[in-house]
Amino acid sequence: MGTLFEETTINGMVLKNRLVRSATWEGMAAPDGRPTPKMVDFYRELATGGVGLIISGFAFVQPDGKALPGQMGIHTDDFADDYRALTRAVHETGGKIVLQIVHAGGQTMRETIGRQPLAPSAVEVDQFQDKPAELTKAQIEQIVASFGEGARRAKAWGFDGVQFHGAHGYLINQFLSPLTNRRLDEYGGSIEKRIRFLMEVYRAVRKQVGPEYPVMIKLNASDNLKGGLEARDADYAARRLSEAGIDAVEVSAGTPASGKKNPARQKIINPGKEAYNLELARMVKGAVSCPVMVVGGYRSYEVAERTIAEEFMDYVSMSRPLINDPDLPASWQSGDRRLAGCISCNGCFGPGLQEGGIYCVVKKREAAKIAKTE
Ligand SMILES: Cc1cc2nc3c(=O)[nH]c(=O)nc-3n(C[C@H](O)[C@H](O)[C@H](O)COP(=O)(O)O)c2cc1C
Ligand code: SF4
Repeated sequence: MGTLFEETTINGMVLKNRLVRSATWEGMAAPDGRPTPKMVDFYRELATGGVGLIISGFAFVQPDGKALPGQMGIHTDDFADDYRALTRAVHETGGKIVLQIVHAGGQTMRETIGRQPLAPSAVEVDQFQDKPAELTKAQIEQIVASFGEGARRAKAWGFDGVQFHGAHGYLINQFLSPLTNRRLDEYGGSIEKRIRFLMEVYRAVRKQVGPEYPVMIKLNASDNLKGGLEARDADYAARRLSEAGIDAVEVSAGTPASGKKNPARQKIINPGKEAYNLELARMVKGAVSCPVMVVGGYRSYEVAERTIAEEFMDYVSMSRPLINDPDLPASWQSGDRRLAGCISCNGCFGPGLQEGGIYCVVKKREAAKIAKTE
């Protein structure tokens, strides 16, 4: 029976516990995507808090795949020293860090990328006002190559592995989803065709990093959207990736258009609301032979521990609880099994957009109140 605080290995990467920091955009990079010293400090603090594996915020593989301001980019060799400083800071504390790589597809804005967004098909997506242009085959080929190049840089600059983002409505997910992929060529139609882009990305990444380097995916096991990617097709994609040699699958669900069932759900007010992707993760676990990570709403030690010990998941991933308190893993390990302080309000996105970096606004407010009464 597994436990949260035991050592495990993913394709040679040794992890001190089964807690993962799920990818979290920081909003701290320079406008061209270069990591900043503030970002290096942010990751040092996270690693010091004892989480077994950090998955970085999403890094765009080419500028037209940028999703948000302050997002880091892995599209150029110019950022070598900055990324090396980041991975060094994590390693100095005994931590491990994997780079998440992404192309935003149609989930971005002209204002962010300076051109019309690109997507599998010219289908507008909710909450993004610019209708995207359909990718040509030459553009698809170029993006696939950019994923490979991004992975090559990540490995060269000290990351312990890479994870490509196949969730939350970004480009890989858009190819998988019948809602956003209306193509009539070999990239669209049946699920066998809709996974072509994903498999090309996987092979391009693997070719660049070799067999002995952790390559993972964050996969939507459902878009929680009428007409979107459903569990059955996600199950098929997970199987094919497992057969091809993927080293871990992190299971998520939803897109920004999924309403209450978006990837970062609110109102997780009791243990019954936690672990909201667990059922989908069980399905993926049955489909693959590699380790499975599950993300979404973990707030209490008991639910996390049960997910490992009784549900036989390999890793529990968290995002918002570690924005609120990067030391939570160390606290749990020391026997202090406190509930995460995060109240799942999603207020942390605001400072990422407006103040040059995410932080927990609730914690800041509480600290200000205490300071006032002292
Ligand atoms: C501020 C913020 C930034 C996020 N950035 C990313 C990202 O870069 N890549 C990603 O895959 N998910 C991202 N997510 C989603 C989280 O990784 C996670 O899937 C979701 O928040 C649910 O987990 P939680 O309940 O532990 O927060 C982000 C979430 C938040 C709140
Ligand atoms: S602002 Fe703080 S409490 Fe609200 S979701 Fe973000 S980390 Fe959690």
